[in-house]
Amino acid sequence: MSRLVDRVAVVTGAASGIGAATAVRLAAEGAAVVIADIDEAGGEGVAEKIRATGARAEFQWCDVSLEESWDDLRARVNERFGPLDFLCSNASHQEIVPAHELSRRQWDDGLAVNLTPLFLGLRAFIDDLRSRRGNVVAVSSVHAQFGLPGYPVYAAAKGGLTALVRQLAVEYGEDRIRVNAVLPGPILTPVWDDVDAEGRRLSARATVLDRLGDPEEVASAIAFLASDDASFITGANLVVDGGWSVRKESR
Ligand SMILES: NC(=O)c1ccc[n+]([C@@H]2O[C@H](COP(=O)([O-])OP(=O)(O)OC[C@H]3O[C@@H](n4cnc5c(N)ncnc54)[C@H](O)[C@@H]3O)[C@@H](O)[C@H]2O)c1
Repeated sequence: MSRLVDRVAVVTGAASGIGAATAVRLAAEGAAVVIADIDEAGGEGVAEKIRATGARAEFQWCDVSLEESWDDLRARVNERFGPLDFLCSNASHQEIVPAHELSRRQWDDGLAVNLTPLFLGLRAFIDDLRSRRGNVVAVSSVHAQFGLPGYPVYAAAKGGLTALVRQLAVEYGEDRIRVNAVLPGPILTPVWDDVDAEGRRLSARATVLDRLGDPEEVASAIAFLASDDASFITGANLVVDGGWSVRKESR
């Protein structure tokens, strides 16, 4: 498919996992992609892999929690490729700590990386998105809708993202900017590296499809929302979880 020819895209957290798969998919569909991440080696590697296919890609160091990083990112995108058509706000960092053991600093930092960047990113690129009638996808999580012990900041941030997505969709609809979210379930990326085989099996069994998802399966949902195939979809929270959230376990 070539749905994104002549489009310019930014994917944050694209040095790894879902972000990397998304950058590869968007480029395969014709977009010029900027990989924004704090992991320089990983991000350069993904950019190189994309360029090897003949597509256009650049790595830009960016800490999504910092306003200055967004200014630098916008300058780089505009200088290299022109105005932005599509922003995928995907970068994330999670610590597993119950609420009563969480410091105020950890709370603030968690929101700064997992929630605030959608606001910072939209603000940084608003002129481009308006002029291009562009769109935004935030990568939220099923944690926005379900509790799991140890994830208070992550859940608050992801729940905040799904609400903010609806808000931004309403706020910028008259500018013809679409804003959507995807809510992945268990997806096999490096965040699963410290989960043993039994833990993975349990999570796989909790899905209706009886397996963990692949990053490419989230990337294809993001590419759909980014494309004109989703031209009448805004404010949506698209669950990509193999049915994890639709099964009732008991009577
Ligand atoms: N893997 C899953 O099971 C799963 C489930 C639900 C939601 N998600 C969401 O999917 C998204 C991607 O997760 P993943 O599993 O691919 O994780 P990952 O750890 O493989 O990738 C996260 C990327 O974010 C980058 N990053 C971290 N802090 C950053 C910062 N301050 N600035 C810029 N980049 C930063 C990391 O360097 C890394 O490249 C996240 O938003 C995550 O919450 C993942």
